[in-house]
Amino acid sequence: MSGIRVRTRKDLRAERRRHPPRCLGHLIAAPLWPLHGVNLGTLLRTCDAAGACLAVPRLPWTTEALARGNTLRRPACVHWVRDPLTWLDGERAARAHILGVELAENATRLADLPMARRPTVTVLGHERDGIPPEALDLLDEVVEIPMIGTGASLNVAVAASLVLYKLAGFA
Ligand SMILES: C[S@@+](CC[C@H](N)C(=O)[O-])C[C@H]1O[C@@H](n2cnc3c(N)ncnc32)[C@H](O)[C@@H]1O
Repeated sequence: MSGIRVRTRKDLRAERRRHPPRCLGHLIAAPLWPLHGVNLGTLLRTCDAAGACLAVPRLPWTTEALARGNTLRRPACVHWVRDPLTWLDGERAARAHILGVELAENATRLADLPMARRPTVTVLGHERDGIPPEALDLLDEVVEIPMIGTGASLNVAVAASLVLYKLAGFA
C-alpha cells in the first residue's frame, strides 16, 4: 500500500481534546478487586482513549499506583469506590447496565457486543481469582473474549481495553 503518511505528534495533538471531558458516567471501567498497580495505569490510559471513567477502590496502594502509572498529561476521570458491592448495587439502582467481563458459560461473545447506548459499568475481575461469586448476582450480562491458544486468560487491562473499544463503538 503506497501513499501512507503517518500522522505526526503535531497532527495528533491538533485532533485531540485539550481537556478531558467532564464526567458523563456513560462508560465506566470497574476493576473493583485489583491486584497489580501496573494494570490500573494501563487501564486509565484506555479509559482516556475510549471516553470512559475508571472506578477503583480506594486502597492504601491504589491512589499511588494510579499516580505512578498515569502517563497522560491530564488524567481521565476516576471514581473512588468504598465498598465494591455497595457501589455496584447503587449503579444498578441508578439503572446502569452492569456488564461483567469474564470467562463464563452463556456469556455474550465479544463480536456480538453492541456499542453502549445506555450508561454501562464494565466490571473486571481480580487478576488471579476473577470476579468474586458474591458479585456475579449483580451482573446483568457477561461478555467473554474468545481465545485460542494455551493461555487460560488475557491480561485484565487487555481484556478491558477490547471491551471498552467495542462499547465505545470504535471497533
Ligand atoms: C487473569 S484473569 C482472571 C483469571 C481467571 N478468571 C481465573 O479464575 O483463572 C483477570 C480478569 O481478566 C478478565 N479476562 C481475562 N481474559 C478474559 C477473557 N478471555 N474474556 C473475558 N474476560 C477476561 C476477567 O475480568 C478476569 O476476571
